Order: sequence, then structure tokens, then C-alpha cells
Amino acid sequence: KTPAPGFNKVPDDLAEARDQASRCQACPLWEPATQTVFGKGPSDAPVIFVGEQPGDQEDIAGEPFVGPAGQVFDKALLAAGIDRSQAYVTNAVKHFKFTPRGKRRIHAKPNVGEIRACRWWLDLERELVKPKLIVALGATAAQGVLGKSVTIRDTRSKLIDLDGATKLLVTVHPSYILRLPDEAARVREQAAFEADMGLVLQTI
Ligand code: URA
Repeated sequence: KTPAPGFNKVPDDLAEARDQASRCQACPLWEPATQTVFGKGPSDAPVIFVGEQPGDQEDIAGEPFVGPAGQVFDKALLAAGIDRSQAYVTNAVKHFKFTPRGKRRIHAKPNVGEIRACRWWLDLERELVKPKLIVALGATAAQGVLGKSVTIRDTRSKLIDLDGATKLLVTVHPSYILRLPDEAARVREQAAFEADMGLVLQTI
């Protein structure tokens, strides 16, 4: 592995990785964002959860999944009996991408170049944590892990072999559940998401 663009050493551990990533300028997203939101969790975690990118609250807190999507995620982990503190939680893209609208910052989807630029850090997190399982929360996360785009429909809830030691499980992004306009659909999709988290617990 060669160092990340702008650096001259490959980090030896997550602390060093986080420190370098805090200064990453490999894509334009660093500039308007408050800070890099690096992954969080133990280096011996059996599972890495990968989201899309930090949201407004994560950008301010500097931690992944602490806002509304994080609440949906936490609820599903609780239902499945997974202890979040034992998991490593990160994002495919580590800066918040947004469009200013008045006082508000509206989430904007990261593009392929931004996902690719940030893939160096996601790959490093994978190499340092060496999890049994990677869970991609949504299509952007799956794209960050696989380096190619896949559909949720084709890949969801299946254990995909990544290499000898690591499997990939693709599921929906928690924000997808939040955005469903219909209460019955939200309940149904939360249950399906919790079932995927049950599969996670069986696999790790
Ligand atoms: N959505 C994500 O994909 N990641 C976060 O960290 C928060 C919201």
C-alpha cells in the first residue's frame, strides 16, 4: 500500500489513520465541512458498519451515526442484541457534503470521484480492523466497499465473500427508512432492517 495522497507514510494503527485523515484534502469536500468524521470503534471489532457519509450532526460532533439515522441504526442494533461499542462504525465518505439553504445545510449525495478518493481510508480501516464481516448500509457504502456500483435489490441480505476472511452484507441505509412517507412502510422496513442485523449477529 502506498501512502494516501499528500502523506508520506501509511498509518500503523487507527489513531494514526484518524490523525492523517483529519488533514486529508484528496477531494474538495474537506473545505466546507467542519471536520473529517473518521470511523469509531475497537481495532479488534468483528464487524465494520459502513454508512454513506456524515450528516449535519455528525459533521459537528465528529462521530459517525449520532443524528437521526444513528437513532434508527441504534434501535435496530438493540433489537438484534448487538452492542454498538463492540463494532467499528464508519462511512464510505468521511466529510459531510451539503448544499447551503438559508441557515440549513441540506445533505448532498457524494459522487463517484469522492467515493473513490475516500476509498483509500476505508480500505485502510478494513486492513487495520480485519473484521469477519462488513455491513454496507446502502448503495453508496456498498460502492465504497466493492469499488463498483451494485443495487440493493440484487445484493441485500446475502453474505458475499470479499476475500478468504471477510464477508460483506449489504442492507438498506437507515435514512431510507426515515424518509418513507408511510408509517406502515416504515414499520415493515424497520423490521426487515432488524432482521438483517439478526443475520449480522449470527455471522460475527
Ligand atoms: N448517515 C450516514 O451515512 N452516516 C452517518 O454517519 C450519519 C448519517
